[in-house]
Amino acid sequence: MRTDQPQTIYLSEYKVPAYLVEQIELRFELFEDGARVHSTLTVRRNPESQETGKPLELDGDSLKLESVALNGETLESTAYEDRGDKLVVPDVPEQFQLAVVTWIEPQNNTRLEGLYKSSGMFCTQCEAEGFRCITYYPDRPDVMARFRTRIEADKSAYPVLLSNGNPVEQGDLDNGRHFVTWEDPFPKPSYLFALVAGDLVEKRDSFTTCSGRDIDLRMYVEPRNSEKCDFAMDSLKRAMRWDEEVYGREYDLDIFMIVAVDDFNMGAMENKGLNIFNSSCVLASQETATDAIFQRIEAIVAHEYFHNWSGNRVTCRDWFQLSLKEGFTVFRDAQFSADEGSPTVKRIEDATLLRTAQFAEDAGPMAHPVRPASYIEIGNFYTLTIYEKGEEVVRMIHNLLGSEMFRKGSDLYFERHDGQAVTTDDFVKAMEDASGRDLTQFRLWYEQAGTPVLNVEDDFDAEQGVYRLTIRQTVPDTPGQTNKKPQHIPFALGLLDSNGDALPLNMDAAETDAPTERVLEITGAEHRFEFYGLDEKPVPSLLRDFSAPVRVHYPWAREQLLFLMSHDPDGFNRWDAGQRLAIDVIQSLIGHDDETEIEPRLVESYRGLLNNDSLDQALVAKMLQLPSENYLVELSEQADVPSIHHARERVLLHLANALRDDLLACYQRNNQAGEYELTSDAIARRSLKNIALGWLLHIGDEEALALATEQFQNADNMTDRLGALRALVNSGFDQERTEALDAFYEQFQHDPQVVEMWFSVQSASHKTGQLPHIRHLLGHEAFDWKNPNKVRSVVGAFAGQNLPAFHNPDGSGYEFLAEVICRLDDSNPQIAARLVTPLSRWKKFAPTYSEQMKKALESIRDKEALSKDVYEVVHKSLAD
Ligand code: TRP
Ligand code: ZN
Repeated sequence: MRTDQPQTIYLSEYKVPAYLVEQIELRFELFEDGARVHSTLTVRRNPESQETGKPLELDGDSLKLESVALNGETLESTAYEDRGDKLVVPDVPEQFQLAVVTWIEPQNNTRLEGLYKSSGMFCTQCEAEGFRCITYYPDRPDVMARFRTRIEADKSAYPVLLSNGNPVEQGDLDNGRHFVTWEDPFPKPSYLFALVAGDLVEKRDSFTTCSGRDIDLRMYVEPRNSEKCDFAMDSLKRAMRWDEEVYGREYDLDIFMIVAVDDFNMGAMENKGLNIFNSSCVLASQETATDAIFQRIEAIVAHEYFHNWSGNRVTCRDWFQLSLKEGFTVFRDAQFSADEGSPTVKRIEDATLLRTAQFAEDAGPMAHPVRPASYIEIGNFYTLTIYEKGEEVVRMIHNLLGSEMFRKGSDLYFERHDGQAVTTDDFVKAMEDASGRDLTQFRLWYEQAGTPVLNVEDDFDAEQGVYRLTIRQTVPDTPGQTNKKPQHIPFALGLLDSNGDALPLNMDAAETDAPTERVLEITGAEHRFEFYGLDEKPVPSLLRDFSAPVRVHYPWAREQLLFLMSHDPDGFNRWDAGQRLAIDVIQSLIGHDDETEIEPRLVESYRGLLNNDSLDQALVAKMLQLPSENYLVELSEQADVPSIHHARERVLLHLANALRDDLLACYQRNNQAGEYELTSDAIARRSLKNIALGWLLHIGDEEALALATEQFQNADNMTDRLGALRALVNSGFDQERTEALDAFYEQFQHDPQVVEMWFSVQSASHKTGQLPHIRHLLGHEAFDWKNPNKVRSVVGAFAGQNLPAFHNPDGSGYEFLAEVICRLDDSNPQIAARLVTPLSRWKKFAPTYSEQMKKALESIRDKEALSKDVYEVVHKSLAD
């Protein structure tokens, strides 16, 4: 067990830096057995710091210090203190140059923070605190410096040498080595530093900005991936144009580079001028990537590009402000994706993620505000709350202000804070100043954790023709936060009459020409709203387009939900009504025997959907998907996974059996030959077709088996091939499943991204993903413990998606996960800590499960030399 307790960092203890770095000159000597890093800092005391006379303290991690020189004079080892995680130099003048030489071992860096090697190339990941694994430095985002970086390496093994900014010098050296020097004219925090060295092919394109400047666009990938760059490049150009048009943001350097690396802890990183991507989030071709992956690539390429303004030009003062750049940038990429595809479907996908996973986080032991007040390991705070709830908070500001005022606010924010490291409060202030709106109460969204709950009641006064809505708000307690204040919630609403027509929302008896949709502003604990001039009790359409990240409780009758499913003009709420109905039906079966009748109207409403060709087919495809097991767990008190799984399965089988002919017709209708297209309509057709196929195979339909086999073998794109494979894997056709899995591996074994899909299809399926098979996959030749994507595609998919197998009542799934976490903790603590999430939710489950989950957590807690990453998540999970 670990004896030293990792330190907690508090926002309240923030102090401006005592020293500022004006310039950093780096020289990297890259070798096979390590790298020597020469760093020369031009430092001056910060006039704004109160801490006069404080020694210079630089952060470091896993560094071997070789020498320190002050103003050109090498220091005796008594003139500084090397504490490992800090280099302290007590006597420094007002201004000086400090030269530090360190030795590091990228080839042994399995944490993938700092400088490391991935399939033979050198690359970096510095956010949040990786730069300190490269050299001693004030590694905090409010220290911004100009970087000049010289990279030296063997010319034949590493012909391509990249860093931020523009190349200013290059040449050959002795012993077959060469160098390139890069200069970044924009001062930046160390977390945005990047370096890449490797044998990479270059893909070039160009973009002309709104002011007529030509930007060189380059992608660097391993030669085997040279045919998988086009889509990302195209997405980049569309994102660049979009940011000019929608936000008035022009790109600022002459070059913009993207590099793909196989070993990466997250999705991608916005390093200035040199974005580095996880291969799985950037490389794609029709034959190897599904529609969902294309959409993910488009969103992530845009996200990282948008960071150039929301993150790089204006950055975070400290890591408590992480959502300043992430929440805003996710909002920007979501707007972009909505504009490029189907806005309703994008909203449904985002709301699904938020309600399934972020609500769970907000109700669990790791709950934290969008702007946290403390942390132990910042790597644990790249969360759904920071990103996704942070996005919702920006979206609410957008909706409260309207697009025009929001744009004024963002213009003011960028203009006022360009080149600065600022806080979420500065962002809100710019929005306030530009719009004249008071967002004082709104700021609670940044400070209070927990998902607000709105309890809605209504009644109709037939005599007066008045419809009354009562809305009560509560914000639940979360660890360390109780008795919270009511928040400012934009609540979009419409009312429908019995024909399905939108009613005018007349809130003032004298009003004429009232709008049919309003955004009510909930600010207190209780509100009453009255709507006049109505002839009958209307059907309410609540929280349209998911106008706030809250839970809404209203005593829905099934007729109302069925009615909204086919009449609500708000696409999001049509879908949501269907989800609520399906949830209600599934929940009513949990714990009942198989004789219990399944709501007959459900079949009819799904039949209507399957045959509806007037509705956006992308929306239809979403509406056909039953709520996930994860969401059903999130909605329950003491989840019993086998019962939830069984009830959901019953509904699925019931629907598929009753709708067999409609499903087959839907498949045929949408199985059109022709060129592969990535339009939203073509994507919707493939999605519908593959849903139909999946349902039909689920009920063992022989005709569908023939269709699936044919589609699996002859598909000209991965969406269809994987759709057929997934349907086969989840079916009862054992032999065909095995044959298809073998054939698929045989065909794609040389493509790591496809092999990852092959792993996760099996691991996420309750048909194939039982523990013995998971262990078998861990021993497979393509599995690699050092590669986070492989770990995620087997272990992550098993514990996160395959609920019936993970929650095996014998506890074996939990023990297995604990064992994997302990193993990974020694090599990659960030990845290990993320895998704790499924166990951290132990209190949500019925006692037989929760007790065993807790035991698994305790076994991790008792491991020797636990990283602070895993320490924080496990200890917070076990705290009461
Ligand atoms: N800033 C990155 C993004 O959201 C996130 C990121 C990439 C990251 N790699 C990381 C965060 C490693 C922590 C550790 O765009
Ligand atoms: Zn980001």
